[in-house]
Amino acid sequence: MKNKFDHEIALAIIHKVGARPEMLVQILHAIVKEFTYVNESAIRLIAKEINLTRAEVHGVVSFYHDFRTHPAGDKIIKICQSEACQAMGSRELTMHAEKTLGIELHQTSENAKHTLEPVYCLGNCAHSPAVMINDKVYGKVDKEKFNQLVKSE
Ligand code: FES
Repeated sequence: MKNKFDHEIALAIIHKVGARPEMLVQILHAIVKEFTYVNESAIRLIAKEINLTRAEVHGVVSFYHDFRTHPAGDKIIKICQSEACQAMGSRELTMHAEKTLGIELHQTSENAKHTLEPVYCLGNCAHSPAVMINDKVYGKVDKEKFNQLVKSE
């Protein structure tokens, strides 16, 4: 779906966001938006450019579940695991998704088509269970709707 990690593009992103230690989280978000992941080369580059240690950057990357360290598939499917969605069956929907896609949460299919991830409230609680596919939010997703979305998106 996205570009492979590229040193020059990453460097431009870091300087566009602001090459300062306090901008680390924003830089990581921008890198993930561009490449879908933050790999070891990105971590080292960011650390060098904003004057932090590799361990400091790595610590932040591992703390936030948003910063995946491997490339995502074409469709990034996030299923809400927060309370309102759980009450409306998001756990069962997650099990269905895992079975249908043949992957577990936090995994990408071998053909790189799907990445399945948990998310904690999409602001769509009134229409739970909620699912996000590549930044688009869907509500009241049951198994049939899930199958349709995965096929059609
Ligand atoms: S709890 Fe799932 S969208 Fe808010």
